Amino acid sequence: MAIRVVVHADKQAASVAVAATIRDLIRRRQAEGRTAVLGLATGSTPLPLYAELVRLHRTEGLSFRNVVTFNLDEYEGLTGDRPESYRHFMEEHLFRHLDLRPGSTHVPDGVAADQARACAAYEEAIRAAGGLDLQVLGIGRTGHIGFNEPPSSAASRTRRVHLDDVTRRDNAMFFARAEDVPHGAITMGVGTIMEARQVELLAFGAAKAGIIRRTIGESPHADCPATWLQLHPACTFHLDPAADTQP
Ligand code: F6R
Repeated sequence: MAIRVVVHADKQAASVAVAATIRDLIRRRQAEGRTAVLGLATGSTPLPLYAELVRLHRTEGLSFRNVVTFNLDEYEGLTGDRPESYRHFMEEHLFRHLDLRPGSTHVPDGVAADQARACAAYEEAIRAAGGLDLQVLGIGRTGHIGFNEPPSSAASRTRRVHLDDVTRRDNAMFFARAEDVPHGAITMGVGTIMEARQVELLAFGAAKAGIIRRTIGESPHADCPATWLQLHPACTFHLDPAADTQP
């Protein structure tokens, strides 16, 4: 098992390629009369992917009626109607533009009274949907996938986590003030992500080149959680030339 690395002409080309993979999965499941279960990410990286999925829906008639989605993570303490929440991000950039069935999208609950119970219920909902067919990932400069900051074990499941200061700084642009970035989040675990049948990770820009190099080059270990992806049987990294580690 090794991570397959594809270097695309630019981030638009990478996003179009991953959108085509998702389209093919959805159409294959439609032909089988089954649901396609997508794991989704937020952040800057998947924005062109989501724009392309919206385009496929609008201009190529790609229907999402048979799609169920599970997002990786949500900030702790933010309700889904807050503009900085990941639920709001997904509604704005993807969900409200598609023909998804009501109730078919899932984002962890950042304000659940009993977080342990809510996380267990999230895992159970993924299982009940048949497991994740395809997980979209970005990667943080700390080596996080989802919000699995170092150290995160390969066995970790959906849970409450503490955000690294590097991550809080990187995400400050989405908040009015840097100090407004929550210190905690709810994230699918590495183990949850590793059970997806297929993983497509996107990384763009020179700021990601260092962590991509570590993720591919270092033996899997908890202090760079993305390295666990080396043990996944079907994981592809989609890079633009700036994030590429090759000479
Ligand atoms: C987002 C997520 C994170 C981001 C990562 C990269 O749901 O789980 O792992 O993918 O922080 O963020 P961007 O894309 O903003 O560089």
